[in-house]
Amino acid sequence: MAEHIFHIEGLTHQFTDGTFALKELSLSVQQGKKIALLGNNGAGKSTLFLHLNGLLQPTAGKIRFKGKKMKYDRNALLSLRKQVGIVFQDPDSQLFSANVQQDISFGPMNLGWDKSAVQEKVNWAMAETEVTELKDRPTHFLSLGQKNVLPLQGYLPWNPMSGSWTSLPLDWILISPDKS
Ligand SMILES: Nc1ncnc2c1ncn2[C@@H]1O[C@H](COP(=O)(O)OP(=O)(O)OP(=O)(O)O)[C@@H](O)[C@H]1O
Ligand SMILES: [Mg+2]
Repeated sequence: MAEHIFHIEGLTHQFTDGTFALKELSLSVQQGKKIALLGNNGAGKSTLFLHLNGLLQPTAGKIRFKGKKMKYDRNALLSLRKQVGIVFQDPDSQLFSANVQQDISFGPMNLGWDKSAVQEKVNWAMAETEVTELKDRPTHFLSLGQKNVLPLQGYLPWNPMSGSWTSLPLDWILISPDKS
């Protein structure tokens, strides 16, 4: 049987105001697949994604990641978020550094690497995605498309991958290749 990276059973999420954003959702995501999740505005797509990297916890139901029930202690979340990245459809909700280089550096700086290791990987990520000449540009001056891809570029220093760097205004969940 193909390995499931995420296995979700009966996922329900009720927000504190009483809204049920998800009701008994079951879904399995196979390793190595690219999946587009389509649904009406308000259908619960973003709410589902927020569960996949532990920003929200289920009201009911179970989520398994790589076969193990998700846990929410600090170490479990740190490990999960090294492997599962989320990029929001609204870039302004995710950009908080003064310029492009600082924004791409933010994640790897928080992994505790030394400065030269961070700089080397950030330089690589900027070159790979052809934004080296934008490195000192304030993030609020970027075009909408440039803002949309910046969180994806910020994920590259610790999860190198290649791809197309044209943006779409969607939420993204990025799951890094299995390194174990
Ligand atoms: N913090 C919150 N408190 C209360 N209700 C919320 C909250 N966040 C989202 N909702 C509601 O939960 C439902 C699902 O929202 P969600 O953002 O997951 O939808 P979506 O499928 O991503 O929509 P879109 O296509 O517009 O991005 C909506 O009815 C929304 O209004
Ligand atoms: Mg959404």
